Amino acid sequence: MGNPLFERKPLSLLLEELKGENRLRRVLGPVTLTSLGVGAVIGTGIFVLTGVAAHDKAGPGVILSFVAAGIACIFAALCYAEFASMVPVAGSAYTYAYATLGELFAWIIGWDLVLEYAVGSSTVAHGWSAHFQDLLGSFGVHIPYAFGNAPFDFDIGAGRFFPTGAYFDVAAIAITCIITAVLIKGIRESAGFNAGMVMVKLAIVFFVIIVGAFYIDPKNWQPFAPYGYTGISFFGRTLFGQTGANGAPLGVLAGAAVIFFAYIGFDSVSTHAEEARNPKRDVPIGIIASLIICTVLYILVSGVLTGMVPADQININAPVSDAFRQKGLPWAQRLIDVGAITGITSVLLVMMLSQPRVLLAMARDGLVPPSFFGAIHEKFRTPYKSTMLTGLFVSLMAAFLPLRILAELTNIGTLLAFTIVCAAVLIMRKKHPEAARPFRAPFVPFVPVAGILSCLLLMFSLPEENWWRLIIWLLLGFIIYFSYGRRHSVLAKLRQAEAGKQG
Ligand code: ALA
Repeated sequence: MGNPLFERKPLSLLLEELKGENRLRRVLGPVTLTSLGVGAVIGTGIFVLTGVAAHDKAGPGVILSFVAAGIACIFAALCYAEFASMVPVAGSAYTYAYATLGELFAWIIGWDLVLEYAVGSSTVAHGWSAHFQDLLGSFGVHIPYAFGNAPFDFDIGAGRFFPTGAYFDVAAIAITCIITAVLIKGIRESAGFNAGMVMVKLAIVFFVIIVGAFYIDPKNWQPFAPYGYTGISFFGRTLFGQTGANGAPLGVLAGAAVIFFAYIGFDSVSTHAEEARNPKRDVPIGIIASLIICTVLYILVSGVLTGMVPADQININAPVSDAFRQKGLPWAQRLIDVGAITGITSVLLVMMLSQPRVLLAMARDGLVPPSFFGAIHEKFRTPYKSTMLTGLFVSLMAAFLPLRILAELTNIGTLLAFTIVCAAVLIMRKKHPEAARPFRAPFVPFVPVAGILSCLLLMFSLPEENWWRLIIWLLLGFIIYFSYGRRHSVLAKLRQAEAGKQG
């Protein structure tokens, strides 16, 4: 008998399970899926982090940072699409890892996806609160400082935490609670709510591109890459490119590692495979279409932004709306703020929709308690208990932890998930060449190998402390797995039952 830690969940069992009771409703078509993808993608990244990346890391070269991060995501997206068409169940990367790399890897990736979805949601809730407070401020209304921020922040230069003087971020808690309630009510309502918000944010993004284009001064694109085109470090030691005052790498690739956050979310389409009407065709369409739409828009927005304002004058907190203020268009600034709030709300909605679905898949496999994480609401048919827990977790993290730490942790966690999915496609092609693949990633092994390498490259372009945080998070996951999941897993029980029969 093989090592149970690496026992794989048979593909046939996965497909068999799809026929059982207690499944989610199949209501999503290709347009809704693409809209969920776009809904999950365009948000804090483009409206907030573009400023940090252009100002601090890459200059106008941030346009190429978007190209680089987009390319890494395209490779990963093709791999996600192949798997999503093969195994159209709710668990996404977690399920793919279970089928290819075995239980321990599946657990690692499931646990890691909490970084992407739940910790990512906390980051996004922070961004929402910042824009909301900004907009209120423009009408002369202010949330008291004590309730407008996390109680501490991280000083990268000094490498330590410092108090901000605030207690917690009340707006982040409020938006998280509202979204949790919408999600419990049902996937159809959530998707409808999302579609409306996606329209608004796309309209604002087009507005930025078209109106902003009239204010471009090509001189602002010079020098194009003031810190060079690379920016790769390895555990705090810069391998290529310049190093910033705080020891973190600078350059186009370092910028790409930051704005990678802007792309996170297209993969969440795969977590809705179980709710798709025709998952084998529509989920790959949703993943790839949403990524392509966002990549093109990001390149255009970053081109316009860096053309409008010299890189060293780009505002770090609200770069896009502030660029219009600098051009003497305050009404446009307010309009963009509304667009950012709307856009970020839909990101939050989709990310918080995805987390309970991964937990649901893990609960069905017995890796987390099924009575809680597997419970589906009788009337709404949604995983309501884990949705509530996700809401609680997200609101606490957003209320008390600083944005910077949450964003970087989300990036490194997601890049790890993408790397594992690309590796899993390679393994699956080798182990099960005969399995039906309604969508096949092209140019295998080039695409998955390029996906693995480009994700690793971006991981190494992040500041060193993120690696330590990731390692601590994974160790915590191991403790939980060895004390619960390993003993309760459905596969482990099947194995014990078989051993009992033979004995
Ligand atoms: N891509 C999402 C955002 O930028 C997470 O907000």
